[in-house]
Amino acid sequence: MENALATEVGEWLLSQAGGPGRAQSATTLMGMRWDVLPGVWQPNPGTRLFTSWLPLADGVRFLEVGCAAGVTCVMAARLGCARVVGLDIVPAAVENTRRNAARHGVAGRVEAFTSDLFAALDADDQFDLVCSNPPLVRAPGSRRYAAQIERSVFDPGYSLHRRFFHEVRPYLAEGGRIYLLTSETLGDPAGVRHMAAEAGFTGQVYRREAIRIPAVVMGSPPAAVAAADQHGIVHVDFTMLEFRRP
Ligand SMILES: C[S@@+](CC[C@H](N)C(=O)[O-])C[C@H]1O[C@@H](n2cnc3c(N)ncnc32)[C@H](O)[C@@H]1O
Repeated sequence: MENALATEVGEWLLSQAGGPGRAQSATTLMGMRWDVLPGVWQPNPGTRLFTSWLPLADGVRFLEVGCAAGVTCVMAARLGCARVVGLDIVPAAVENTRRNAARHGVAGRVEAFTSDLFAALDADDQFDLVCSNPPLVRAPGSRRYAAQIERSVFDPGYSLHRRFFHEVRPYLAEGGRIYLLTSETLGDPAGVRHMAAEAGFTGQVYRREAIRIPAVVMGSPPAAVAAADQHGIVHVDFTMLEFRRP
């Protein structure tokens, strides 16, 4: 069944992100400035939690699926990861990742490719960390994208999540780990873990934190109003799952 609150929050996030006609902009996150190109997902508090929770460290071979503006890839390179690869199905996101890598002095250490999931990788590419902050909202399988930016929020039938677990295995090094962002409020963590288990991965909750969004800021849509606390605040959790190679 469709999660009405997730759909409302997702539509609101999309309205904030702006359409392909949105002008190029810049935003501040984690104390740094980031260029954001038209049609690319705007880094937000979810990006900050996702990036700050990852065990980024010296020498790690790091892969991000859905790199968008490149915040996480840039931070991975700055924290000493040995190899940093960002993939995104939206070409503007790849260009955006390269720009922010240049802006923050790690252009030579961040590789970015247009790719549907892992398609652009070489068969022998292997990573210690594979991570993704995917489109969190499980949309009906019949939903069609009206604009590329919708790929950042809605996953029709959760087919992207299912494919992720079925395709990731060859790229995960021995002892490697997967970190996937999800949300009880916006997503379907139980469904994600079920799909992972089908592909032979066992997972656990790694980190969880809620952010507060006033329902009125979203225009007071009905499910948000119903879910809000007595102060009119909707608590939206972000939950990071960790999976290991069997
Ligand atoms: C929620 S956004 C997250 C962006 C960024 N990692 C962040 O945390 O701000 C999800 C990203 O996944 C990308 N994406 C969606 N479907 C994809 C696919 N099939 N292959 C690769 N990337 C995809 C979207 O274009 C978008 O940039």
